Amino acid sequence: MAPRIVLITGCSSGIGLWAAVVMAKQPDFKVYATMRNTGKKGDLEKAAGGCLDKTLFIRKLDVKDDKTFKPVLDEIINSNGKLDVLINNAGLGMLTISEAAPVEGVRHIFDTNVIGLFQLTQAIIPIMKKQKAGHIVNVTSVGGIAGVPYNTMYCASKFAVEGMTESLAVELMDDNIRFSLIEPGPVNTSFRENIQEASGTGLDNPDIDEDTKKKFVTLVNSISDSFAKVAQTGEDIAKVILKAVTDEKPCLRYQTSEYGAMRAKQALVDSTGNNFLDMFRAEIKN
Ligand SMILES: NC(=O)c1ccc[n+]([C@@H]2O[C@H](COP(=O)([O-])OP(=O)(O)OC[C@H]3O[C@@H](n4cnc5c(N)ncnc54)[C@H](OP(=O)(O)O)[C@@H]3O)[C@@H](O)[C@H]2O)c1
Repeated sequence: MAPRIVLITGCSSGIGLWAAVVMAKQPDFKVYATMRNTGKKGDLEKAAGGCLDKTLFIRKLDVKDDKTFKPVLDEIINSNGKLDVLINNAGLGMLTISEAAPVEGVRHIFDTNVIGLFQLTQAIIPIMKKQKAGHIVNVTSVGGIAGVPYNTMYCASKFAVEGMTESLAVELMDDNIRFSLIEPGPVNTSFRENIQEASGTGLDNPDIDEDTKKKFVTLVNSISDSFAKVAQTGEDIAKVILKAVTDEKPCLRYQTSEYGAMRAKQALVDSTGNNFLDMFRAEIKN
C-alpha cells in the first residue's frame, strides 16, 4: 500500500517535532517535517534516528512566507503524486498586559497563527480537491475555546482558527476533505521560552500602573502553578494527533487531556459563559 503523505509545520521543537517522529515511525507514513529555520534541525534529526531521509524528510517552510510553500508542495507532488494530511502546528504565544501589547506584536501573532496557517491551507485545498480526499489538522489550544487572561491576542488567534476550521469543515465536506482541531491544555515544550517573540510583558512599561502590574504577576503565577499540575508532553499530544489522522471517522475536536475536556465542556455547553467567569473569579480571590 502506498504510504500516507503528511506535511507538518513547526517541527524544530515541541509538538511538531514529536508528531513528525511518532508518525514517521508508523509503518505506513511518509512525513515532510518542515521548519522556518533549518539551522534548528539538529534535535529533530537526532529524534528521527533511522527514519531520517527514509520516512521523515526535513524541509524549510515559513508559514509567514508563502514563497517557501511551493518548493515543498512541488517536491511532495512530484515524488508521491499526492498529499494526504496537513498538520498546521506552527504557532507563537503572547503573554502581556493587554493595554501594553504593541500592535506590531499582535500582527506578528496573527500573521503566524492565523493568516500563515490559512494561506498554507489555501495552497493545499486544490491538491486535496483534485484527489477528492484529504485531512487537515489544526493545532489550536484550550485557549481557542476559553480565554486565558493576559494571553489575550494568542487566545484571539486560536479562536480565529477554531472558527475558520469549523467553517471549512462544512465548506469542503462534499470534497471529502476532513478537518480536525487538536486542543491541548498546557504542554511542556519550548513554547513558554518562545512566548515573548512578539512582545514584552508590559511590566517594564512606565505607563502601566502598579496595581495592574501586581495583578498580572499574581494571576500569571497562579495560572502557571495550576497549569504545571496538568501539563502534558509533546509526545502525549503527538499521540492524539496520530489518533486523529488514523481514526476512520475523524472528530472535529480532540482535547488531549481530562483537563482540556473539562474546560471545553465548560465553554461549549454553558451558553451564558457564566461558569467560565466564575472559575476565574475563584482564581482571583485565592
Ligand atoms: N505548549 C503549550 O502549552 C501549548 C498548548 C496548547 C497549544 N499549543 C500549540 O501547539 C503548537 C506547537 O507549540 P509547541 O508547544 O510545540 O511550542 P514550540 O516548541 O515553541 O514550537 C512552536 C513551533 O512553531 C514554529 N514556528 C513559529 N513561527 C513559525 C513560522 N513563521 N513558520 C514556521 N514555523 C514557525 C517554531 O519554530 P522556531 O523554532 O523557529 O521558533 C516551533 O517549531 C502551537 O500552535 C501552539 O500554539 C501549545
